[in-house]
Amino acid sequence: MEAHFTEWLNLGIRWIHMITGIAWIGASFYFVWLENNLNRSNPREGLSGDLWAIHGGGIYHLEKYKLAPPKMPENLHWFKWEAYATWLSGIALMLVVYYLNPSLYLIKPGVELSPAMGIVIGFGSMIAGYVAYHLLCDSPLGKCPALLGAVLFVLIIAAAYGFSQIFSGRAAYIHVGAIIGTIMVGNVFFTIMPAQRALVKAIEDNTTPDPTLPAKGLLRSRHNNYFTLPVLFIMISNHFPSTYGSQYNWLILAGIAILAVLVRHYFNTRHDSSKYVWTLPAAALGMICLAYVTAPAHRAPSAAPVAAVEQPASETLAKVEEVGEATPAEQSSSENVAPAAGDFAKVESVIQERCTVCHSVSPSSPMFSTAPAGFVLDTPEQMKAQAAKIHAQTVATQIMPLGNITQMTQDERDLIGSWIAKGAQIN
Ligand code: HEC
Repeated sequence: MEAHFTEWLNLGIRWIHMITGIAWIGASFYFVWLENNLNRSNPREGLSGDLWAIHGGGIYHLEKYKLAPPKMPENLHWFKWEAYATWLSGIALMLVVYYLNPSLYLIKPGVELSPAMGIVIGFGSMIAGYVAYHLLCDSPLGKCPALLGAVLFVLIIAAAYGFSQIFSGRAAYIHVGAIIGTIMVGNVFFTIMPAQRALVKAIEDNTTPDPTLPAKGLLRSRHNNYFTLPVLFIMISNHFPSTYGSQYNWLILAGIAILAVLVRHYFNTRHDSSKYVWTLPAAALGMICLAYVTAPAHRAPSAAPVAAVEQPASETLAKVEEVGEATPAEQSSSENVAPAAGDFAKVESVIQERCTVCHSVSPSSPMFSTAPAGFVLDTPEQMKAQAAKIHAQTVATQIMPLGNITQMTQDERDLIGSWIAKGAQIN
């Protein structure tokens, strides 16, 4: 029952997180677009530009003031609760998913790290990340945006590497996302909002606003804009085990972050110049390259399984022992003595022991009230039908069993790997 309500808690918070995140990022995209598309030729007195747009059946006219309108409008819309609500719901989601079940989701299997320490590191890194970022922006480096960007990138990937050593792949990615998200919301809270408040106050007091404040706010808001696409990837990354499940997950994240920034840069610059048009195709090409470099090494693709299936497995084994040298069929399956193709009984008992506590119509694990991800391995037919997914998550990557809570051994992974390589026969 408890697992059931945790699931609904997760659902509710995740939904809110998505809604507020869309509102925040949507507004951010819109205002950067607006800024880039302002018509700045011959603006009216006191304006830096204007823009006409049609949307939802109506025509809009927007004007941007150079610094401030002569008189404060009665209703001024602020955009801040989208950001705060996204961050708060993100933290809540992190609590429900990772910090309620640290041994399952947070800590990397085999790493000696207490759950409490893991949580402290997780939280601490968000605060440390923001402080480091803020100091860097205010340092002389802040005057050199490209270099600052490069330094930030290296630091973020260093954090990803650090996390990947102690956290599960999913948790490592999410914590990088949490650092970036905290920087983004910190920018809103500590820089952009105060700058806007000072601007509004100056207008109300009829004093000249400090012109450096909006510039500072704009720089931080630009940073936020470049952070959005990498963060969006991280938010969906837990659906893609070939990224976070890899041993080199931090490098893959670095690759994807570069692509994301290239795409953002294309959209941010295309109105001013065509200097960066190459960034969009370059990002697409990079994505294809990443798909290739992350492909799992193939074991025994076509010929071997057929041969192995046709030949009774016990015979194959016996032959290997006799000859003392593997035939091509066996060579392609495993360095160890290949388990027999018909030896499904062993595979079945491994899956029953290591997987079906969770992946069953009625899981015996108290942590799940239904099969996680709807993925059921109760019958031999289901095991065969799901062989490709089993391979992806327990052989190619080792993200299952979750947190290796059921202590699956490498030999068992190899056993399942060669069973699948030989065609996943169940009789
Ligand atoms: C402690 C419980 C637990 C154990 C044990 C476990 N899993 Fe999972 N498994 C999960 C959870 C939770 C998910 C959903 C992950 C997510 O949030 O995407 C999952 C997802 C999966 C998926 C992805 C399904 C899909 O369609 O997306 C596969 C495949 C999988 N597990 C295979 C296995 C195999 C094979 C084993 C045994 C070697 C195993 N799991 C053991 C909890 C478990």
